[in-house]
Amino acid sequence: MTGQDRPHLALVGGMGAGKTVVGALVAERCRRRHVDLDRWIQADTGRSIGVVFAESGEDGFRDAEQSSLGRALELAEPVVLSTGGGVLRRPANREALAARARVVWLRATPETAAARVGDGTGRPLLEGGSPVEVLRRLDAERSPLYEAAADLVLDTDAATPDQVADEVVAWLERLEGPAGRSAAPS
Ligand code: S3P
Repeated sequence: MTGQDRPHLALVGGMGAGKTVVGALVAERCRRRHVDLDRWIQADTGRSIGVVFAESGEDGFRDAEQSSLGRALELAEPVVLSTGGGVLRRPANREALAARARVVWLRATPETAAARVGDGTGRPLLEGGSPVEVLRRLDAERSPLYEAAADLVLDTDAATPDQVADEVVAWLERLEGPAGRSAAPS
């Protein structure tokens, strides 16, 4: 499969893995549009993620996520896509990502992720419980999905977002050449 078949770059991984911040850096350096899927879901539904969960339940959120993901992957221009941690739960999403994107798993231990997400505000799955315990459970459930989907796996525990972005860009350049890359700010 060629880069033309899979024009997009998708970042997957659990909450607190750094998908949004790294995605923005990679997009800037590659001069690609950055699509943050949670933001698209909020724009498409006109509601915050918390309100979507509260009013429509997790299933309603997953419906919105699937529909926004489908739209993003249909974009003709190559984008950098920061997904939400549960995007691989639906087989249709796994298939769509495999068909249209190179996939990078940003891996973080639940302990690192917990430190990054704090009390979990704005993340309905973390509210009302112990974030680290929920993150451990989700990590056990979802790691096999991330692993199966990933073309590249990067451990982020000891790395800054800049360092992770550098690794993603270097990998992408090896595959696709340097076209479009802008120099990283020093
Ligand atoms: C979710 C992760 C969130 C968001 C929603 C559900 C999950 O995105 O999509 O709260 O199922 O792990 P982030 O991974 O960007 O926090």
